Amino acid sequence: MTALLPLLHPLLGAIAVCSVFLLGLRGLHSRRKRPDAARARVTHRRFTPLALLLVAVSYLGGIGSVVLLRPELDLAGSVHFLLASGLLATMAFLWLRSPARTGHEPGAARVHVGLGAVAMGTALMVAALGLGLLP
Ligand code: HEM
Ligand code: HEM
Repeated sequence: MTALLPLLHPLLGAIAVCSVFLLGLRGLHSRRKRPDAARARVTHRRFTPLALLLVAVSYLGGIGSVVLLRPELDLAGSVHFLLASGLLATMAFLWLRSPARTGHEPGAARVHVGLGAVAMGTALMVAALGLGLLP
């Protein structure tokens, strides 16, 4: 049972990465001139804060996992750690500077979309590099 504990973080992390990617896609979908764009926007607005929360919990869980369960790994010593830190900072920025908070100002919305796409790519890289750390 305890042998499975180091897999908790990778499992939660995988859910976090999927949620960032899928909810990001909803955001991109909401910009297209399609009948279901408004629904995609509502899903994106309502649930992307949850993706941010999952990333934050995964971040703390990853650090906890290294400290408590994987003494052979260097704390904060991996590219996985660096990219995860970048992802957490970017997601927090996207939340603080969402189009709803910036009054839908077109320049700020473009920054939101561009950085959002960067966050989606970073999330995939975090997952790929996490595979290399598995026990
Ligand atoms: C958004 C998602 C994720 C975040 C924010 C995150 C963050 C972190 C952080 C901060 C650490 C500590 C690293 C260090 O101190 O050098 C860590 C460790 C680790 N991460 Fe992730 N990670 C995520 C997703 C994943 C995924 C998807 C996997 C597996 C495919 C994974 C596998 C690991 C492994 C194996 C470790 C070593 C600790 C352990 O064995 O539990 N991570 N992660
Ligand atoms: C994961 C990467 C993300 C991508 C690719 C992304 C993309 C988008 C896109 C394309 C829009 C539509 C902008 C427009 O038409 O002007 C949008 C709107 C929005 N996004 Fe994001 N976003 C991301 C992350 C986030 C995060 C983390 C949050 C908040 C926690 C967030 C909150 C919002 C809000 C509140 C809107 C406005 C919705 C409305 O018009 O009612 N987004 N996003």
